[in-house]
Amino acid sequence: MSVAVAPPMALIAEITHRCPLSCPYCSNPLELIRRGAELAAAEWARLLREAASLGVLHVHLTGGEPLARRDLEALVAEAAGAGLYVNLITSGIGLDEARLARLIEAGLDHVQLSFQDADPGPADRVGGRAGAHADKLAAAARVVAAGLPLTANFVVHRRNLDRVGDMLSLGEALGARRIEIAHVQHHGWALANRAALMPTADQVAHAVAVVAVARARLAGRIVVDHVAPDYHAARPKPCMGGWAQRLMLVTPDGRAAPCHAASGLPGLHLPSVRDHSLDWIWRDSEAFNRYRPPAFAPAACQGCPGLAIDFGGCRCQAFALAADAAAADPVCELSPDHAVVVAARRIVADASSVARGFAAHR
Ligand code: FES
Repeated sequence: MSVAVAPPMALIAEITHRCPLSCPYCSNPLELIRRGAELAAAEWARLLREAASLGVLHVHLTGGEPLARRDLEALVAEAAGAGLYVNLITSGIGLDEARLARLIEAGLDHVQLSFQDADPGPADRVGGRAGAHADKLAAAARVVAAGLPLTANFVVHRRNLDRVGDMLSLGEALGARRIEIAHVQHHGWALANRAALMPTADQVAHAVAVVAVARARLAGRIVVDHVAPDYHAARPKPCMGGWAQRLMLVTPDGRAAPCHAASGLPGLHLPSVRDHSLDWIWRDSEAFNRYRPPAFAPAACQGCPGLAIDFGGCRCQAFALAADAAAADPVCELSPDHAVVVAARRIVADASSVARGFAAHR
């Protein structure tokens, strides 16, 4: 019997894990899905039509690098034809004039372009590709010149957070309609590299102040979003807007998940879109219902007024930090496991960790 639940607003379609960059905070799992296991274009087409029928409004085509798929134009056309708003989340590498024109012709509505820094040297080092930053600048200029709305996304961490003002200036100069300052979320590669990535409390306070000034100055012209760093917050975020509340993610090989890191949760079987309809997966599958509020709430959160806002935080973070995906997110200062986050903050004060290298990626 179907569960009465509102449809997801957006589908995050991870169409490939292939990527020309090798960022040490990549949100993809440590075990990447190989090209041969990726869903074929016809499978994505069926899925996109199903998503629209289910009530999904937006599709975010992402990866890895979605431009690595030669059939991206066909996927954009299918999504647009199904009535979805189509957002391309890209590094910009490979987004030349001809490719952009074909994607716009196919129905692309929006581009979110990620930057590793405002400074080309560190940007290229973090991405592991010489010249990548220059390629991104050129791609962003093409997007704006073509009249497409651009979001400039800057992923920030200890090694670049002090340049947040430069990042905001760059986003403004590029003509972005939205600038997103997104602190690294410690899952996957970013958890493996946490000691080298986590900013200090002083850095975070400075960045918050700089972003607030820019947001006020750019109000009405550019939207400035700031995704705060979990480990320095007093309360957790409602990760993904709550488990299976607003978003559905599909991996390159067709497994549906409520979030980016769910494949790492033990005992959670992610249903395949090759075997089930999106409607069944969203409403009836065990994976989407296991931690779905309000039926689920962490035991330590019962009776807390914050529960209606944050749903007890991130299930994957609870598993990573407290070895229990059903626990209150240890980021919350009221969590019985909060000491583990306090200990992680202390590591930041250890000067030796600042110089630590990143774990190999790819
Ligand atoms: Fe999985 Fe937050 S990343 S619930």
